[in-house]
Amino acid sequence: MKRTLAMLTAGILALGLAACGKSDNSDTKATSQAATTATTKATEAETEKSSEATTENAGSEAKASEETTENTTSEGTTTAVPHKEVLVVYFSATGTTKDVAEKIAAIEDADLYEIVPAEPYSDDDLNWNDSESRSTKEQNDSSARPKIGSDVISLEGYTKVYVGYPIWWGEEPRILDTFVESYNFDGMTMIPFCTSASSGVGRSDKNLEKHAGSGTWLDGKRFGAGPSEDTVRSWIEGLK
Ligand SMILES: Cc1cc2nc3c(=O)[nH]c(=O)nc-3n(C[C@H](O)[C@H](O)[C@H](O)COP(=O)(O)O)c2cc1C
Repeated sequence: MKRTLAMLTAGILALGLAACGKSDNSDTKATSQAATTATTKATEAETEKSSEATTENAGSEAKASEETTENTTSEGTTTAVPHKEVLVVYFSATGTTKDVAEKIAAIEDADLYEIVPAEPYSDDDLNWNDSESRSTKEQNDSSARPKIGSDVISLEGYTKVYVGYPIWWGEEPRILDTFVESYNFDGMTMIPFCTSASSGVGRSDKNLEKHAGSGTWLDGKRFGAGPSEDTVRSWIEGLK
């Protein structure tokens, strides 16, 4: 009898433990399922967020540089990105031409592209009273082609390109020749403008046209320092 009772108790205990084990297992499964779901959701949310961010980045990059005409969305399809038609390219050693370029860009709702020299010009480099200064030597050598440090720009989609520069020794700085020789301006109207202390456009606009060898070049326009927005606007309106 004792033996039978002991066996019965052991049986009940075993059944209880088995039941406990099962419920522990299902709890674990539920917990791990919940964890998996949470992780998946978090991953999905993260993926969504990062793909949104990627799309945003791609969008803003494309908007900022206007280099891209197509954009990859989070679904992997490509859509057209609105492209501005006017570009204002400029080189400015001391900010005078930059000011005019920005005024043109604001009036024309255009993109801006700065020609930044790979090797910046120091004050000594710009000293025109020194026959040995870098700028004097470059201007005395019509074959000099200073390297451009700014990123290459895609001109696809632009129909009108303003090209601005300071007058150096009566001409365009040689880095402008580097620029126009580096691109194809077919199908674009090219509009040179410059700033100077007193000199006119001189032959700088025709030099650029010759070196470019492509694009339809209008006559250049010279500005002094800090022209008013009205002055710039009336010049632009006169071009149309
Ligand atoms: C090397 C050098 C040469 C220059 N040569 C002339 C010139 O021949 N005639 C002139 O009127 N101004 C000349 N300037 C003055 C600049 O054309 C003028 O200050 C211009 O507005 C500067 O533009 P930025 O500030 O965009 O560089 C020269 C300036 C430099 C640095």
